[in-house]
Amino acid sequence: MTSAQRVFVLTGAGVSAESGLGTFQDRGGIWSRFDPMALATPEAFARDPALVHEFYNLRRSGVVAATPNAAHEALARLESRLQERGATLFLCTQNVDDLHERAGSRAVTHMHGEILKARCLACEAVTPWRDDLSVATPCPACGRASGMRPDIVWFGEMPKHLEAIDAALREADLFVAIGTSGAVYPAAGYVAQARALGIRTCELNLEPSDNAAHFDEARYGPASVVVPEFIAWLLGR
Ligand code: APR
Repeated sequence: MTSAQRVFVLTGAGVSAESGLGTFQDRGGIWSRFDPMALATPEAFARDPALVHEFYNLRRSGVVAATPNAAHEALARLESRLQERGATLFLCTQNVDDLHERAGSRAVTHMHGEILKARCLACEAVTPWRDDLSVATPCPACGRASGMRPDIVWFGEMPKHLEAIDAALREADLFVAIGTSGAVYPAAGYVAQARALGIRTCELNLEPSDNAAHFDEARYGPASVVVPEFIAWLLGR
C-alpha cells in the first residue's frame, strides 16, 4: 500500500481514447487530420467563427455520446480511498471532456477548460452547454448575441488554474502522468518540476512519451488496463 499522502495525477487524451475520443498529436490523432492553427486559436475564431463552431460542435457531440472507461473509474476510486485514509488526490486533466466527473471523480481541475461549457464574449458568463453553438447563439445570462465560445483553452491562451496546480505540485509526494504525450506545455513540464522537487514520478501510457526519460517508473499499455492495475497496486489490494 502506498505511503503517499498527496498524490498528483495529470491526465491527457490517452485516458479518454478507449471511450472513443480522439487523441491529438499521435499518428491519426486530431491534429494530424485538422490544422490546429485554423481551428484552435483565438485568431482562428475571430477569422472564421462558423468553422470553429462546426469543429467543436462535432467534438462536443462526441463527448456527450461517450462514456467513461475503467481508467476514469479507477481514478474516481483512488480519490475516495485516499480520502478515507486522510490522504488527497489532486486530479489535473488536460482533457476538456467530463468523463472523470461522470466516473465519479469529485474534484477535477480542467487546465484546458471544458467543452461542455460556453463563455459569452460580451459578459464573460460561463454557462453549461451541451448543444451546438453558432455565431447567432444568444448568451443565456446577458441575452446578447455578440458571440459565445467554447470555454476551453486554445493555443496561445493561458491555461486555467495554474496557481492551484503549482501549489498542489509543490505539496505532492507522488506524481503520476497518464495518457499524455508530453508535447504541450506547461503540462509537459510538470514531471521535470516534480523531479526537481524530489517527488517520485510515474508514467502510465500506451507507449513511452516524449518525457519518458524523466520518470522514475513507467507502465505501458492501454489506460483501461494499466490504470486500474496501478491503482490497485498503489492501494495495496
Ligand atoms: N491508453 C493510454 N495511453 C494512450 C492510449 C490508451 N488507450 N491511446 C493513446 N495513448 C497515449 C498516446 O501514446 C499519447 O502519448 O496518450 C497520449 C496522448 O497524447 P496527445 O494526443 O498529445 O494528448 P495530450 O498529451 O492530452 O495533449 C495535450 O494538446 O492539442 C492539445 O489541448 C490539447 O489537451 C491537449 C494537449
